[in-house]
Amino acid sequence: MLVDRLADQCDGLHRLGGPAAREEAPRWAYYPWRRTAIRVLGPSSFRRLRLDRNRNKITAAEQERLESVTVGVVGLSVGHAVAHTLALEGVCGEIRLADFDVLELSNLNRVPATLLDLGLNKAVVAARRIAEVDPYLPVWVWCDGVVPRTVGDFLDGLDVLVDECDSLDLKMLLRAEASRRRVPVVMHTSDRGLVDVERFDLEPERQPFHGLLGDVDVEALSELSSRDKVPHVLRILGAGELSMRLAASMLEIDETLEAWPQLASDVALGGATITGLIRRIALGDKVDSGRGRIDLDELLQRLESPAAEAGEASTGRIDDEEVPEGPVEALVHAAVRAPSGGNSQPWSITVERRRLVFSVASEPAPVLMDLHHRGSCIAVGAALFNAKVAAAAHGILGPVTLPSNDTVDPNHPVATLEFGDGDDPHLSELYGPMLARATNRHPTHDRTLTGREAVALYDAAALEGGRIRIVTDSATLDESAGILAESDRIRYLTRELRRDMVGELRWHGSENADSGIEVNSLGLDAAESALLDVVLRDDVLDQLDDWGLGGGLGRITRDRVRGSAALIAVVTEGDSASDYVHAGTVVESVWVHAQALGLAVQPVSPVFLYADTPADLGRLSRRDADVLDALRTKFSVSLGVADDDRIALVMRIGRTRHAAERSRRRPDRVRYSHQSEQG
Ligand SMILES: Cc1cc2nc3c(=O)[nH]c(=O)nc-3n(C[C@H](O)[C@H](O)[C@H](O)COP(=O)(O)O)c2cc1C
Repeated sequence: MLVDRLADQCDGLHRLGGPAAREEAPRWAYYPWRRTAIRVLGPSSFRRLRLDRNRNKITAAEQERLESVTVGVVGLSVGHAVAHTLALEGVCGEIRLADFDVLELSNLNRVPATLLDLGLNKAVVAARRIAEVDPYLPVWVWCDGVVPRTVGDFLDGLDVLVDECDSLDLKMLLRAEASRRRVPVVMHTSDRGLVDVERFDLEPERQPFHGLLGDVDVEALSELSSRDKVPHVLRILGAGELSMRLAASMLEIDETLEAWPQLASDVALGGATITGLIRRIALGDKVDSGRGRIDLDELLQRLESPAAEAGEASTGRIDDEEVPEGPVEALVHAAVRAPSGGNSQPWSITVERRRLVFSVASEPAPVLMDLHHRGSCIAVGAALFNAKVAAAAHGILGPVTLPSNDTVDPNHPVATLEFGDGDDPHLSELYGPMLARATNRHPTHDRTLTGREAVALYDAAALEGGRIRIVTDSATLDESAGILAESDRIRYLTRELRRDMVGELRWHGSENADSGIEVNSLGLDAAESALLDVVLRDDVLDQLDDWGLGGGLGRITRDRVRGSAALIAVVTEGDSASDYVHAGTVVESVWVHAQALGLAVQPVSPVFLYADTPADLGRLSRRDADVLDALRTKFSVSLGVADDDRIALVMRIGRTRHAAERSRRRPDRVRYSHQSEQG
């Protein structure tokens, strides 16, 4: 019979993408015992497609290394399961199978063969099964088993020897030869998941069986009867360590039992355990000589309920939040409702008799991204804008002063708002929208921004004497989305940046929940939330970094930005602290106006946003400084920001049905002092 499923295989290979070995001619694999030939891909394409689903539990590079591994298996009952699993998993590139015995019906309780194999040599049975999985894998069959005359040939060039034979003298012979040739020996015993590793490759002087057998005459062993071998077997296995049922059965051998009992589940476990071991040895992972157990009966008796997730959702309400009536208190309340990177609330507000004084708080230490305190200055500027709106609404608006600070000196004023009698009607109208402002991180879908809306946003920036760029075309949004996603990838994979990011997150019931970003406010769907727990694992991210992967880490940002109606970049010409405070007022004005138009707003800050110099970029990530530099340039070009301008903040806007979660505020950022009276 001829079977031709080549088209499916070619499709599968095509779906994998990457370098396909297309020039390789397909072949016919002929199976005489089935009188069937099947068409298969050429050898490297075949192997690539067959083993692709092992990635990245076994990376492509590791798979390639495993191709050069030669394994020998002696004893093809447990050995059958081992050899078949090795072949399935692609853990070797050549395999030798030795057994003199033929398959009987009484073996079909554990050897995964079929009735059609009865009477065949056990090594041949296993070899056929492997050939039906992979016709290209060289399998050598030793139908006479291994004997003193052939043991040298069998072990010649082996990387690992698997001992699953029953005979004690052969076991000793194999170990003597393995230690001479420095070949590691692994063995699984089908009782309580016992596994033994003897690294003769690393310790050729090592005693066989960890020295448990003591000094025995190997020649004499071969002459012993089954019964006389029992004490030796018990010395190796440990009489007290046998499962109760095997121990009891030992006493029944030659009475009511022909041989000791072995179960298919134990044999399958042996195949899994030994394959896992060989993979680790072959890939150079740490595997010491020694003995261990994967005792299913014991493990299965100790199942526990996994700790339930604390999945209670936040209500989004802040119960103790009331808008104060007193004008000064209302100003302070409005100021601290301002947005800030990571909700760090990096301001310090002093209430004096006739004015509010704003400075950048001295603690907590700024995150790495907040270079030159620029993000903090934006937040202070936003707080100032909010205070102005509240002052207008309460008829006490007075002049604003932005002392010209080049750099930030924490607790040194960066802005003051005098109390006066102004009531600017436009600002005053913004009081309600300003109090309702929030970061909405949900996906947005409707990608339209009307001309009227765009004009309103330009006007909002102009109201505070600032400028914005609005980008709406999808090609530019896509390009910016890619840059922001790559920046996120680097942020996740760089330990210090990741630590800052994780440090900002708060889970329901967190202690310091009055700052930071509640996970509930991230606007994640169920699948994204579930993945968050994976994405925040250091070991996972370090592994992705090692592999040079992690493209998926930027997906949420990429998708959110792509689905937005526009990106708005607030730009500033100057680079002093006062310039950034000023830009903060522009950010907040645009944000409040956008939200009043029914738009959802979320800042999307790439890690390099506040970096100026190569030294700044190096502080973010020494390794990726150049990549970040290139991204930074590309981002400015993409958003059409002029060479002389800097980006103070980028916000994505769009429309969504989902409301934003209300974020909390710390109560300790405001100080009342009436000593330094002015005016
Ligand atoms: C300078 C600055 C940068 C920010 N960057 C981001 C950002 O990259 N991603 C984000 O989701 N929110 C960002 N935000 C929004 C803050 O996380 C948010 O303002 C804060 O958590 C308080 O929540 P609220 O805006 O809902 O009051 C930023 C805010 C500021 C002022």
